[in-house]
Amino acid sequence: MASSDDTYSSYETYFRTRKYAQRYPRPNRLAFARVLRMVAPGAVLTDIGAGDGRYAIPLAEKGYTVIAVERSDAARAQIADTALRLGLKGKVHCFKELEDVDAELAAESELSLLFFGVLGHMTFKEREAALKTIQAMSSGQANVIGSVPNTFRRYRSERVNAKIEDFGSAPRFIYTHELDGATHGFAYTAYSPKQLREEFTLHGWECVEIKTESVLSERKVTRNPVIGVTDALVSRLTPSRFSHAIFFHIRSPA
Ligand SMILES: C[S@@+](CC[C@H](N)C(=O)[O-])C[C@H]1O[C@@H](n2cnc3c(N)ncnc32)[C@H](O)[C@@H]1O
Repeated sequence: MASSDDTYSSYETYFRTRKYAQRYPRPNRLAFARVLRMVAPGAVLTDIGAGDGRYAIPLAEKGYTVIAVERSDAARAQIADTALRLGLKGKVHCFKELEDVDAELAAESELSLLFFGVLGHMTFKEREAALKTIQAMSSGQANVIGSVPNTFRRYRSERVNAKIEDFGSAPRFIYTHELDGATHGFAYTAYSPKQLREEFTLHGWECVEIKTESVLSERKVTRNPVIGVTDALVSRLTPSRFSHAIFFHIRSPA
């Protein structure tokens, strides 16, 4: 059975082949708007699990300084290349691990992003450690926003047929994806809104908001701008238990 290490190499292939960029060519419109609403341009943001930079680069273009943390070498290279090409080199700072981020820069960060399942790829213990590190690196109360897959809508068969043991109440499993002519495994955790709230509370974080990020799949929403606009409108009115991706905003203990 695939392990977290397979997830690492699976993502390397996903980014190296640029299949990720083809599948998700732009940021989720609603998630992006929520970042803009929370912090003003000029602020420092930390994009954790930044992928190929589909949030980091447009945010830097808007005038934010972005700390992009991404463990895939191929994805980090793509972020750095795009930043250089667009004249944003000084606005995007890439690191492999959260622990590698320069302490002074990290202390300036006003908001951390964990968009599109980054938290779900981590094990329970990794999530606990990541939240502790975010809190420790912050100069005051840390604010984190992000999104995870909704267990009511997704991975029904994987939860039963490809279950992995883990701590916590949210189910962990392997899903597969065809890339480069081969089957790749990804370890993942999906949540109900209640499980998400309970896990953050367990780790001592205040759950400020849990709501819908998208109703349709991220692929549809980010590949077709008309669907993207419509989904953002519908998502604002849809309770999180019916979402495709659940959006969260959490705050660390004071
Ligand atoms: C679905 S992608 C999301 C990327 C980006 N946030 C976005 O919205 O496009 C998930 C990301 O999580 C990262 N990742 C996977 N497992 C991880 C782990 N255990 N710890 C930290 N990051 C991980 C991957 O490298 C990948 O960039």
